[in-house]
Amino acid sequence: MPSSSPTQIDPEAYWMPFTANRRYKRDPVLFDSADGMYYHRPDGSKVLDGIAGLWCVNAGHRRPEVVQAIAHCADRLDYASSFQMSHPLAFQFAEALCEQAPGELSHVFFSNSGSEAVDTALKIALGYHKARGQGQRVRLIGRERSYHGVGFGGLSVSGIGGHRKNFGNLLPYVDYLPHTYDRSQMAYTRGQPAWGAHLADELERIVALHDASTIAAVIVEPVAGSTGVLVPPQGYLRRLREICDRHGILLIFDEVICAFGRLGAPFASERFGVLPDIVTCAKGLTNGAIPMGATLVRDAVYEAYMDAPEGAIEFSHGYTYSGHPVACAAGLATLAIHQSEGLAQRARELEPYWEDAAHALCGLPGVVDIRNIGLLAAVELEPRAGKPGQRGFGVHQACLAKGSLIRSSGDAMLLSPPLIIEKAQIDELFSTLSEVLRQDA
Ligand SMILES: Cc1ncc(COP(=O)(O)O)c(C=O)c1O
Repeated sequence: MPSSSPTQIDPEAYWMPFTANRRYKRDPVLFDSADGMYYHRPDGSKVLDGIAGLWCVNAGHRRPEVVQAIAHCADRLDYASSFQMSHPLAFQFAEALCEQAPGELSHVFFSNSGSEAVDTALKIALGYHKARGQGQRVRLIGRERSYHGVGFGGLSVSGIGGHRKNFGNLLPYVDYLPHTYDRSQMAYTRGQPAWGAHLADELERIVALHDASTIAAVIVEPVAGSTGVLVPPQGYLRRLREICDRHGILLIFDEVICAFGRLGAPFASERFGVLPDIVTCAKGLTNGAIPMGATLVRDAVYEAYMDAPEGAIEFSHGYTYSGHPVACAAGLATLAIHQSEGLAQRARELEPYWEDAAHALCGLPGVVDIRNIGLLAAVELEPRAGKPGQRGFGVHQACLAKGSLIRSSGDAMLLSPPLIIEKAQIDELFSTLSEVLRQDA
């Protein structure tokens, strides 16, 4: 019989994702409710959420508007397929989302996660060229130290060796840009580093090697999130755009973390003033309250598909839960909160305070770099000799014991709070981290 009390769980049956299962199950960490900036633990203690769940609860936890929208929809229309039929909420949400999106990103394909949004984007790019008579453009270009989810498509263009090594050859015809992080050039930069725009020129080298006629798309996270908040050098993204334009290559921004106000603008493309051809998003799309992914495309991409013969399915792709009504209801309620509370603008206004609080940790024991943009920050620690990641995980656990949730990625401590965070809570997060780092010395 499954145990009924949250404090009496038997942890064995659940094979947990991206978790050291045996270590976790010896001492499980559980949250059983949440509200605003806080998680609550079964013993009644509160934890200040410094990572918006997992970069997703941008408007804060358990927003009544989202909860009610979900409940209302589930009670009225629990499910409707979007294969050759649909329901009004999918169209309403698509329209509202595209209205918020920059430039000509005026069509959206729905899925259920960031991974699916990325796989969808890669397929859209390949099919786009095929539809335009350039079916030989089959090569995809990713980047080192990028994370694009765990589907075979996203994993193939991701640049984290540890995620890839056990799963065979992945997709063929993939090449990689170098990552943009060089501590010797950019340590302790506030915002975008001045050094590094030239790294975009590596795309020209890749084009020269494979020939542009074989390349379908380049995919990058505008700010690489999971691999340590790697902020793009000034001018880097613009240069990627120019090179893609020169060679007819589609540019995909994976904004699964960056969208919905995280960088102080509704989308990262607005923050950086560079318009990609395709944008992927998820997480903050429904405020994390229900799974959903979205792939937005420019008019020209959509139109290329619409030349197919009348009656033909233009894009043979989709998920049972594409445009799920309950997810659309949650998404509409989330967008409304963003608009009425101006969350992106709020994040932008808080950014200098956040930046100062993060950089105040400079000089603490073990700290080797601090990076930030929007309401994102990374505090990079010197790894313990021969034990990469151990120090970071220990700091994460010690912060949690003191009531602050801060993520570790290897030995980088990552912070990405809900955008409703108050200044006093920013102080609390960084002073907890600072206290732990002093004790960890
Ligand atoms: C940039 C990026 N792309 C894709 C994903 C995958 O999203 P999901 O875990 O919803 O599949 C993530 C998840 O963190 C991400 O950060």
